[in-house]
Amino acid sequence: MRVLVTGAGGHLGRAVLPRLLDDGFTVRATSRRPRTDPVVEWTVVDLATGTGLAEAVDGIDAVLHLASLPRPGRRTHQVDVLGTRRLVVAAGQAGVRHLVYISIVGVDQVPFRYYRHKLAAEQVVAAGPVPWSVLRATQFHQFLDDLLSTASRLGPTIGDRSILAQPVDPGEVAARLAARLVAGPLRGIEEYGGPEVLRFDEAVRAWRAARHSRRPLLPVHLPGRLGHTLRAGGLVSDALPRGSRTWADHLADTYGGTGGR
Ligand SMILES: NC(=O)c1ccc[n+]([C@@H]2O[C@H](COP(=O)([O-])OP(=O)(O)OC[C@H]3O[C@@H](n4cnc5c(N)ncnc54)[C@H](OP(=O)(O)O)[C@@H]3O)[C@@H](O)[C@H]2O)c1
Repeated sequence: MRVLVTGAGGHLGRAVLPRLLDDGFTVRATSRRPRTDPVVEWTVVDLATGTGLAEAVDGIDAVLHLASLPRPGRRTHQVDVLGTRRLVVAAGQAGVRHLVYISIVGVDQVPFRYYRHKLAAEQVVAAGPVPWSVLRATQFHQFLDDLLSTASRLGPTIGDRSILAQPVDPGEVAARLAARLVAGPLRGIEEYGGPEVLRFDEAVRAWRAARHSRRPLLPVHLPGRLGHTLRAGGLVSDALPRGSRTWADHLADTYGGTGGR
């Protein structure tokens, strides 16, 4: 099967490419800048303009659509919503048989602006001419790690201790995406999360231990609907199967030691 992977140079893309190659797929990968690789055919695509799309989907059986611009502002709408529409139209014209879109658990509940764009992109995929699947994943381990670094910039780690998260290993998400390609179009949405639901303060405690940090947690109460939804589990999923690699596994790999277990 010939698979086009958009946003293949991103965090998830870097886990997806080796997974697909190991599983025997022929892979074409997109980036906004030219890249070369002995085993992957890279092609330049800009979803914000549509540049390179027709060539990218030519001869392709399935698309894994990972590209996204998770920054606030009009560009996210251009890339994530209108860019997804451009991709879906081009894929339809090229006779692509399956388009798999990676989304996020909670896009239909949690009032983040970025999630509105992801939800709109899901709807574009579902309304398009190409048989489709959506996989909503929970937060990747590295995303939570980066978030905690950002939340600690002023010294203590600032956060709402009761927010729930279910971090997942991107390699396991990649395996799930590869399995979906083999299984064929779901014409629906499935969810995939990590093995455990953690409160923010539990995640911080393990992170601090792994980094031998003595930073205190400075608890705040996130107000409004956003805070309520995050504390009520808007970012977590009870879907099965789940990943098996834990937050502690990620911390041990990244910082050494036992990862705070
Ligand atoms: N991070 C998480 O915790 C998480 C959780 C669940 C789902 N997801 C979803 O998983 C996907 C990948 O996430 P990630 O963390 O791997 O993101 P990432 O590292 O930011 O990668 C996204 C890629 O999108 C590409 N891109 C950006 N603007 C583009 C444009 N105008 N045209 C074409 N490509 C463009 C970029 O590739 P180039 O710079 O090479 O062009 C970038 O490498 C996203 O759809 C995200 O919503 C993420």
